[in-house]
Amino acid sequence: MTDESPRTGAAANAAGDAYPGASEPLLRIEGVAKTFGTFRAVDGVSLDIKAGEFFALLGPSGCGKTTLLRMLAGFEAPDEGRILLGGKDIAQALPHERPINMMFQNYALFPHLSVRDNIAFGLKRAGMSRADIVPRVAEMVALVKLEGLEKRKPDQLSGGQRQRVALARALARRPQLLLLDEPLAALDKKLRENTQVELMELQRRLGMTFIVVTHDQEEAMTMASRIGVMKSGKLAQVASPRELYEAPRSRWIAEFVGDINLFDAESKLRDGHRLVVGTRDAGTLVVAEPRQPLGDVKFSVAIRPEKIKLSRRGPASEAGRETAINALDGVIADICYLGGTTTYKVKLDAGGIVEASVANSARLDVDAYSLNQHVVAWFTPDDCVVLPS
Ligand SMILES: Nc1ncnc2c1ncn2[C@@H]1O[C@H](COP(=O)(O)OP(=O)(O)O)[C@@H](O)[C@H]1O
Ligand SMILES: [Mg+2]
Repeated sequence: MTDESPRTGAAANAAGDAYPGASEPLLRIEGVAKTFGTFRAVDGVSLDIKAGEFFALLGPSGCGKTTLLRMLAGFEAPDEGRILLGGKDIAQALPHERPINMMFQNYALFPHLSVRDNIAFGLKRAGMSRADIVPRVAEMVALVKLEGLEKRKPDQLSGGQRQRVALARALARRPQLLLLDEPLAALDKKLRENTQVELMELQRRLGMTFIVVTHDQEEAMTMASRIGVMKSGKLAQVASPRELYEAPRSRWIAEFVGDINLFDAESKLRDGHRLVVGTRDAGTLVVAEPRQPLGDVKFSVAIRPEKIKLSRRGPASEAGRETAINALDGVIADICYLGGTTTYKVKLDAGGIVEASVANSARLDVDAYSLNQHVVAWFTPDDCVVLPS
């Protein structure tokens, strides 16, 4: 095991690399907590971030995202726990001594300074010489495509341009770790989507580690390779976007990350690798057995709207008839045209409502189904997720 030898790590450190070995995380957060008065804003968070990761912290407003970032950046001291960077505890390091930079939610640009001076600010404070600052600022201006705007003040810029100045300022000192607090929240939808892609390209090109905070699940899924979902100061689940969406760990996460149909289970019966579940609102459902045994806890069956197919008489093909198994009769109760997809609400004969999302794959299609029309909503046991409730 030569690659794990202490000498390899020491050599890497001697070369100025604070990242000691491939197996060790760049950042380790260990049981970190922060209380304001009697309110625990961050409540025992543990998390490892690898070098080069694009990590998203996702959670509703007030769940402690900004507080956690501020502790990483050194603007707030944890009441409990440790923060290790490259294996070293950084508790005593002041914000400007940490190889970490933070881009603030409201950008916090200096209104009286030009674009150029805003970007140069941290470099000057760090004592960099003018001869080094000038080319570094030019490099940052080019990186975020602000050429020609160097002399403008923040109030002479659009929202998107201000966002770029804040990004350039945060990147200027070439931090090992960049923390971005809701970096795109102030931009309109189209600009936000373009900027998401630009941020991903930038992060890859610079080979840096990003932690981005957002309350927008689509944004987190688009950009990050891993997502940590926060709820009331705690990490509820850390997973890849796909795992989070397809295998959420709780009902709350399933509902927070995208739309989902949920049916409370009233009874269950094992049938080989499947469970036959009795529900009040959707009748009997056949679902794949969950990986973790359920025991006697209350649970619900969850199905994403795009997994549900609609047809007039049930699964169309022979194969569909064999695999679908779950086929629920109902009538169309509501139609919502969204451009790329149409969402149909189906009032089931069993009493509940199920939402099905259907792709509009041909331009001149009229709605495939009309109000009050009888339909069959069908899906397979594998389309269902069993969630403790
Ligand atoms: N300096 C502070 N003093 C008192 N309460 C605070 C302070 N900072 C944050 N909080 C509270 O802690 C909770 C978490 O805040 P924050 O980390 O900003 O959440 P988020 O960024 O997820 O919206 C909120 O209820 C907020 O009001
Ligand atoms: Mg916040």
